[in-house]
Amino acid sequence: MARIDELASIGAIEGTKGCARLALTDADKAGRDLVVTWMRDLGLGIAIDRIGNVVATMPGFGSVAPVMTGSHIDTVGTGGRYDGNLGVLAGLEVIETVMRSGIELTRPLAVAFFTDEEGARFAPDMLGSLVYVGGMPLEEALDITDADGLVLGDELARIGYAGAAPCPGVVPHAFVELHIEQGPVLEAEGFAIGAVTGVQGISWTEVTVVGQSNHAGTTPMELRHDPGYVAARIATFVRELADDLGPPQVGTVGSLSLHPNLVNVVAARAVVAVDLRNTDDAALIHAEQRLAQFLDEVAGAEGVTISTRSLARFEPVTFDDRVVRIIHELAAAAGLTVRRMPSGAGHDAQMFARVCPTAMIFVPSEKGISHNPAEHTDVDDLEAGANLLLHTLLQLTGDELSWPSLTPR
Ligand code: GLV
Ligand code: MN
Ligand code: MN
Repeated sequence: MARIDELASIGAIEGTKGCARLALTDADKAGRDLVVTWMRDLGLGIAIDRIGNVVATMPGFGSVAPVMTGSHIDTVGTGGRYDGNLGVLAGLEVIETVMRSGIELTRPLAVAFFTDEEGARFAPDMLGSLVYVGGMPLEEALDITDADGLVLGDELARIGYAGAAPCPGVVPHAFVELHIEQGPVLEAEGFAIGAVTGVQGISWTEVTVVGQSNHAGTTPMELRHDPGYVAARIATFVRELADDLGPPQVGTVGSLSLHPNLVNVVAARAVVAVDLRNTDDAALIHAEQRLAQFLDEVAGAEGVTISTRSLARFEPVTFDDRVVRIIHELAAAAGLTVRRMPSGAGHDAQMFARVCPTAMIFVPSEKGISHNPAEHTDVDDLEAGANLLLHTLLQLTGDELSWPSLTPR
């Protein structure tokens, strides 16, 4: 908790418990430096790769593949103190605990933090872990720009985290991430732990609407080609689409900008970001098609030009059932109430699921609030999650993953 509090003091949002450490900003650098200091203090071997991911591994195991845990320490601009940070700092504490206990392991534990998980500054989200597992070429990632035109590779070098370790990185023996749920399910149903079975599909589309900027007082309504109006229609369409398709479809317009953004000027241009998610890929594709069809219709009706750019597209991910079962059984054995559940948020673990046995542990989020400085999880829940992470990682250093099925223990 002391480490969580100290890390949260960097980029602290005044008057709240929250943090703003967007990826590759000065605040992100300061947070990274602090966590790397803690990793070094434990005597871990530290590798910084070319996309700025940092992996700290127990020394003395040669080239034996580690059981890896980790998450991210970047935040959205209005973030809480647990999203991502919990998984990294709990991982660090697990390793510290194991090293102090003198337990002998046959393979090392490693804890990592991955660059730009949030994707709030440089899309897509989960960028560092995506590059780590070979899902995006390094050069393509380094060329991504933010809304101000700043280049990811330049920003990475500027903060001193353009490392030398190669991408893709070492494939772990297994990967487990502890994270706050960021949704209301565990609290509402009275469970202490979620054994996470997978992550829903994510589709982010940037929609640019270009019309005719003009005088707000003199331009007759029937002569307008108004990007502001079209942006509002897109936002309402996304809501109606999700309502129409029903759960588990969700849809959000969380970012909308008008140019020149003046009270008495019909906008020249609007940029709208649409976030669509679904646990079923066919359903997500259907939602994307409905959006595309609507954009065509509204562009024709208002006489504006609409162009789209995909910012992120990840299919739903299913985690390794053996790892989910280990988490479930160890939680139950510890007397914790536990349920299986999918994740609504994206996570670095979903990238590792491509290359090694992977799953996640969730702890409850108060009122389901997240991506908000008010995000909170009770300390008892954080501790239960960290202890479960410890026992899960220890179990995964054994030979369970070579078994066809698990024997309950
Ligand atoms: C990333 O954290 C996301 O789910 O948007
Ligand atoms: Mn997160
Ligand atoms: Mn997040």
